[in-house]
Amino acid sequence: MIQSNVVLHNLTDGLMIIIINRPEKLNALNNQVLSEIEKAIDLVNSHSEIRGAIITGAGEKAFVAGADIGEFLEVPNELGIELSKKGQSIFSKIEESKKPIIAAVNGYALGGGCELALSCHFRIASEQAKFGQPEINLGIIPGYGGTQRLPRLIGKGRAMEMMMTGELMNAEEAYRVGLINMICKPDELLQTAEIKMRAIVSKPKFALEQLIKSTNASDRDQGIGYQTEADSFGKCFSSDEKTEGVSAFLEKRKPNFK
Ligand code: COA
Repeated sequence: MIQSNVVLHNLTDGLMIIIINRPEKLNALNNQVLSEIEKAIDLVNSHSEIRGAIITGAGEKAFVAGADIGEFLEVPNELGIELSKKGQSIFSKIEESKKPIIAAVNGYALGGGCELALSCHFRIASEQAKFGQPEINLGIIPGYGGTQRLPRLIGKGRAMEMMMTGELMNAEEAYRVGLINMICKPDELLQTAEIKMRAIVSKPKFALEQLIKSTNASDRDQGIGYQTEADSFGKCFSSDEKTEGVSAFLEKRKPNFK
């Protein structure tokens, strides 16, 4: 089954590969891509013959280089909070999927791309992968669950540093801090993810479902954290800093924050 920006590829034994397919924009998440990801996750969860999914990016350069910055100009400032809530809700669907979903990170996983990887049950990455939450350079903050999932995964201090500096982290460092579980050669990434997924889906289905549910319950915060993130993202979205940050990126120049 092929959709325009998200390609679904069926493997044997109920495995599916979900490919974010917008390589000319480094697979940036525009509204359409987000909706297609949601449809893909719904499909995984509604078809009994699908046992698990691997999410990856098309092309050699990027997994996903973030939310589509160009589209930020089209979204009215006051709807920033809704944008954040939409991303949060789709990524929560991934985290709460009844079937295992892992990320095979083949390149840049920045901003919303890092958040997409974080929402998967775990991550395998190629040596070329680079992770980052560079939203601060645009005058905004991570809005698709990054402020919640990143500190849980790598600790609050490291997460704060990553989000405050906007600096990128290479695969080796990401492995060291526990952001990813495995590093492999770029041309072995999908095969490695597939072998791992086959091992997982050979386990009993109902128990896997309950395992995901219980493990997710270990870090539930009744939604306060996510609500705070969406509110803060919404406020940043209508700030002068965001106007300057987004314009500077699109005009390919350094932002000039006051
Ligand atoms: N949204 C929209 N377009 C994006 C994008 C994003 N998040 N990331 C990259 N692109 C586009 C670029 O604008 C460029 O489009 P163009 O060819 O029409 O000009 C194309 O993808 C290739 O990117 P480019 O910047 O030329 O590649 P590069 O190798 O020089 O740099 C990155 C790669 C990832 C370092 C750089 O693209 C980048 O910093 N992207 C934004 C990352 C970010 O801030 N993400 C968080 C968003 S909230």
